[in-house]
Amino acid sequence: GRVLLAYSGGLDTSCILAWLIEEGYEVYAFMADVGQEEDFEAARKKALAVGAKKFFLEDLKREFVTELIYPAVQANAIYENVYLLGTSLARPVIARGMIAVADKEGCDFVSHGCTGKGNDQVRFELAFYGLKPDIKVVAPWRIPEFYHRFAGRQALLAYAAEKQIPVQQTAAKPWSTDENLFHISYEAGILEDPDTTPPVDMWKLTAAVEDAPTTPERISIEFTAGLPVKVTAGTDTYTDGVEIFLALNALGRKHGIGRIDIVENRFIGVKSRGCYESPGATILRAAHVDLEGLTLDRNVRALRDQFLTVELSRILYNGHFFTPEREFVTSAIPASQRTVNGVVRLKLYKGNVVVEGRSSAEGLYDEKESSMDELGGFEPTDTTGFIQIESIRIKKWAEANIRRGQA
Ligand code: ARG
Ligand code: SIN
Repeated sequence: GRVLLAYSGGLDTSCILAWLIEEGYEVYAFMADVGQEEDFEAARKKALAVGAKKFFLEDLKREFVTELIYPAVQANAIYENVYLLGTSLARPVIARGMIAVADKEGCDFVSHGCTGKGNDQVRFELAFYGLKPDIKVVAPWRIPEFYHRFAGRQALLAYAAEKQIPVQQTAAKPWSTDENLFHISYEAGILEDPDTTPPVDMWKLTAAVEDAPTTPERISIEFTAGLPVKVTAGTDTYTDGVEIFLALNALGRKHGIGRIDIVENRFIGVKSRGCYESPGATILRAAHVDLEGLTLDRNVRALRDQFLTVELSRILYNGHFFTPEREFVTSAIPASQRTVNGVVRLKLYKGNVVVEGRSSAEGLYDEKESSMDELGGFEPTDTTGFIQIESIRIKKWAEANIRRGQA
């Protein structure tokens, strides 16, 4: 059969490529450009040298931003209070890109190099089945002959030597990464001890706070319907969706913004220590959350926070993107964002995103009404009744406590 392999150019997927050929498959290699730093030309040469019959490189950056990142921004998506979901976000567009090529090129099989313990295998495969239910998946790291034979890096290196697969001269980094235009992740290797501090030279997308400029930088972000439409930094302005992201990344990088080091719960139930850098996304989330304070109705906000934020985050993390519940949730998100229009002014300084002001023409906020210095149409006596009614059950509860001697 013909198999389309999600190829990274690294040791694992190069060995998988050679092994699939050994198993009798005709292998096509697939790479997605989702904004990671990568020598795609070198990867193409390598895939073909190892024996791939064809190589496909798909630029998925724009759909990544508009179809995956934007709903996440509008929903303030976040997993376990800290992780901004950078890897999870890229998986649906990569899977869709693969299925499109598999369809066009007549591949009955798709394959990937995800481990059997991780989230990505689940995300990729549920996405494959959600798009093409009859696709067949070859997951070598879950095939006993493969994972027994290649247990440990030495076995992979020996196989690479046998198959004349070029292995990078530079010693492999003692951790694994996943990068795209939203973030980079670091996991495994020396990071598996959750009490090992990552070496300073691991971090790639952001400056260390110690090295960040000692002068703050002011920027502003304009939103329309909860989406960034303009970023202004000094004399520079950015209005294109992808450019906005890249510009915010550059600003966040410079000022050391968006590093986290966490232990998270993977979908399959194991805990995993991960480090992440999401510079632009961290700035954008802070600005969006702030603008909602000024422009979003209280009850809409509460509903969105309680249901859509939590649910979209879980859907993304668990790889449930091509599902009816995701369609439902992402159709509701824009309806929560109609009033989220305005500008947020920020100060970037040594790892911090400091909000310095915000403005909007929406008018949900009324300066006169909110003022402590004037009445602005407000009847203070109304509040007396409001508090009295609200206190009825609270007084009852307090009286009962006192009767039981628990006051
Ligand atoms: N733990 C993160 C997540 O599940 C990052 C996964 C990184 N994936 C990788 N293949 N290195 O989203
Ligand atoms: C992997 O297992 O391939 C990487 C980690 C993950 O997907 O969670």
